[in-house]
Amino acid sequence: MLNKKTLKDLNVKDKKVLVRVDFNVPINDGMVGDDTRIQAALPTIKYLLDQDTKVILCSHLGRPKGEAKPEFSLAPVAKHLAEVIGMPVKFADNCLGDVAQTAASSLKVGEILLLENTRFHAGEKKNDPAMAKELAALADVFVNDAFGTAHRAHASNVGVAELLPSAAGFLLEKELKYLGNTIANAEKPFIAILGGAKVSDKIGVITNLLAKTDKILIGGGMANTFFKAQGYDLADSLVEDDAIATAKELIEKAGDALVLPVDVAIASDFSNQAENKVVPIGDVPTGWRILDIGPATVVAYASIIQKSKTVVWNGPMGVFEFPNFAKGTFGVAEAVANADVVSVIGGGDSVAAIKEANLDNKVSHISTGGGASLEMLEGKILPGVSALADK
Ligand code: 3PG
Repeated sequence: MLNKKTLKDLNVKDKKVLVRVDFNVPINDGMVGDDTRIQAALPTIKYLLDQDTKVILCSHLGRPKGEAKPEFSLAPVAKHLAEVIGMPVKFADNCLGDVAQTAASSLKVGEILLLENTRFHAGEKKNDPAMAKELAALADVFVNDAFGTAHRAHASNVGVAELLPSAAGFLLEKELKYLGNTIANAEKPFIAILGGAKVSDKIGVITNLLAKTDKILIGGGMANTFFKAQGYDLADSLVEDDAIATAKELIEKAGDALVLPVDVAIASDFSNQAENKVVPIGDVPTGWRILDIGPATVVAYASIIQKSKTVVWNGPMGVFEFPNFAKGTFGVAEAVANADVVSVIGGGDSVAAIKEANLDNKVSHISTGGGASLEMLEGKILPGVSALADK
């Protein structure tokens, strides 16, 4: 953890507390889908209620581009939060202006208020000082528990932190512990598993982790770009042509530390129903494409995982949305879950995979951040964290 104040360092008793949470959750037909981020904010909210505070929550949802758009309303989230916490949650349909001020000033001790989407105002993303000031005026102290948003420098997380006594909430503290401390002081062997479609998204992560890990296991579409850099013909597989030169440099720099698949599952088309088979890399026939790592690779990766002490995983090994091409991702998920390791899973897709495999309670930490967890793995200091008060 950085030397920042955390919730228990802050005097909150009897105060109005503005809490920035990341309630950017999927909404389907007006209902909350995956509520992991809401559940993850409960420890901070419950602690604050126990401290006889008035809890004012704020968050963004989606990317409404500075305008109030009903499909991005947090109203369904207020309803859902009320159900999971088992008490009423008041809702103000504007996070600024008279609506917010009246709602905040009439709030009683032990009550929760959720403010409407901060991104309904253009000032949010610009970190507009006037917007930060209005938000700050609603409360006495500020708690940032929005790890998923900590890589953004916006009015509701950075601007407001500069105006009120502030601290990191329990979720933010936990995320920083695992994605910061655990990785910085990882017990060795320390390995990273990186997947996903694009090498270009992960260059910073690979470069940073090469210096810290013993091995980086590569999977997903990004492996193709490394194979292309090694001169393999991949037929119709997804390759990021612009990143081939970078992939070549990374291979040269990493040597044995960068581990690539030995076999791949291929498809005659981009669909689950397509004809499929497993081939060694280099044997992809014309018209076919790589959609997953193969079984020999899963075995090889599992053996490396079993011998390690710390594992960080970001990005799926293949197109796991297609059941026929999910074996690589689920195989790696099982290996991580069953190994005696400290395991940190970051990034939306690998988190979705570990949950789908029902293995989420067998890993040490599942991050609620997508972009934020990637930036942590790149070794960056997140603006939402820097803005908080020092210990
Ligand atoms: C996320 O889901 O990664 C965060 O809530 C940040 O959202 P954003 O990418 O729209 O800023």
